[in-house]
Amino acid sequence: MKKNSIKSFRQLVSYAKPWRFKIIIASIYSIVNKLFDIMPEILIGFAVDLVVKRQDSFIASLGFTSVESQISILAICTFFIWAFESLFQYLYSIAWRNLAQSLEHEIRIDAYSHVQNLNIKWFENQKTGNVTAILNDDINQLERFLDNGANDIIQIIVSTVTIGAVFFYISPIIAAVAVLPVPIILFVASFFQKNLEPRYLSVRNAAGSLSSTIFNNLLGIMTIKSFTSEKLETQRISKLSKEYQLANKDAIKLSSAFVPVVRMGVLSGFLGTMVLGGFMAFSGAIAVGSFSVLLFLTQRFLWPFTRLGEIIDLFARSMASTKRIMDLIHTPIEIKDSKNSITLDSLSDDIIFENVSFGYNDDLVFDNLSFRISSNSLIGIVGKTGVGKTTLIKLLLRLYDLQTGSINIGKNNINDITLKSLRENIALVSQETFLFDGTIS
Ligand SMILES: Nc1ncnc2c1ncn2[C@@H]1O[C@H](COP(=O)(O)OP(=O)(O)OP(=O)(O)O)[C@@H](O)[C@H]1O
Ligand SMILES: [Mg+2]
Repeated sequence: MKKNSIKSFRQLVSYAKPWRFKIIIASIYSIVNKLFDIMPEILIGFAVDLVVKRQDSFIASLGFTSVESQISILAICTFFIWAFESLFQYLYSIAWRNLAQSLEHEIRIDAYSHVQNLNIKWFENQKTGNVTAILNDDINQLERFLDNGANDIIQIIVSTVTIGAVFFYISPIIAAVAVLPVPIILFVASFFQKNLEPRYLSVRNAAGSLSSTIFNNLLGIMTIKSFTSEKLETQRISKLSKEYQLANKDAIKLSSAFVPVVRMGVLSGFLGTMVLGGFMAFSGAIAVGSFSVLLFLTQRFLWPFTRLGEIIDLFARSMASTKRIMDLIHTPIEIKDSKNSITLDSLSDDIIFENVSFGYNDDLVFDNLSFRISSNSLIGIVGKTGVGKTTLIKLLLRLYDLQTGSINIGKNNINDITLKSLRENIALVSQETFLFDGTIS
């Protein structure tokens, strides 16, 4: 497994901690369901044993001597096994899927509120659509893995261990033959996992670019129309969409090969059991009933490993998404309250700019600017466009950090005032329009 995905996975697991108890319960449901799922094959063995050995069969030895009672007991067992398998499937499905939803909700809200606290500067360097893609698509991607992934992994382990035990009980030699392909399958699986994840990361990044451009275009639809650049923009989207398609194609090529490759591994195990078990059954080394159980079980033993392909696929995808989400959540917030920041009750002091230098990039908007605005005075700031009027207010709101100098309100540097109280005391009516979602009523 790649270091990257282990790290992402760990971070995901740490989010799941509050639901530890529910996870244990869900795991128990998964385990019980799997145990019931394996039993019918063993019953088949008993049935074959019954037909072949009649009065010497295992069931007869339990005291069911008449044919009627033997068939009845098999039927009753079958009924209950299937009923319980269904019941526990229902239970684990509900448990895992709800867990997935809870986890997703938690991560989504965490990521969103973190994003809200990031600097304006960060937003300016980001494509909004890409952030939206992370908050929506990438987080939803987790659900696809969490819904089934954990259950699948648990069930593969349970079936491998229990069926393996039955195998060893019946015939250790045949068990060894059936187990032989497992390490090879696991090796193949890890190869696929390693190579799939970077491909899925490219897919997710391509999806982010696509979504950000679409988002931006819809926002500027008036401009697009007025410049009649619809065709050009469609071409741009088409190019990005093509890149997304190609990134997917890369991932598809690899992920589609997994099941066929694993099937060949399963085949070798199955062939081995069939040939070796067949000879042993003929020579009387193992019972016919046992042989039939083995044949059924080899499939049951090895076949789940093909599911491993799907799991790895989902895992790779969701770890690619987790990485994008966690990178977002771990982006440092630069403008925040200082340790001993004070609350500003009302803004009734002078506002003092002292030797303020600031620029959005290397070009300075203000170079060593100093002035004082007395409290209770009404002032207007005029200047030609782009001179820095809005920037002045943005600096007062601490939307950006100064390069040098300080801004004080009375005795207090604005860096020592809580952001909440500072901004609550300043009413900015921006020249950019923004409507909050909702109704006036
Ligand atoms: N986010 C930004 N990134 C880079 N440069 C910016 C950014 N915002 C503003 N600028 C630049 O900083 C300078 C000051 O911009 P500002 O918006 O403060 O001007 P203004 O005086 O409010 O102009 P207007 O009268 O047009 O509103 C301009 O040269 C502008 O191009
Ligand atoms: Mg302005």
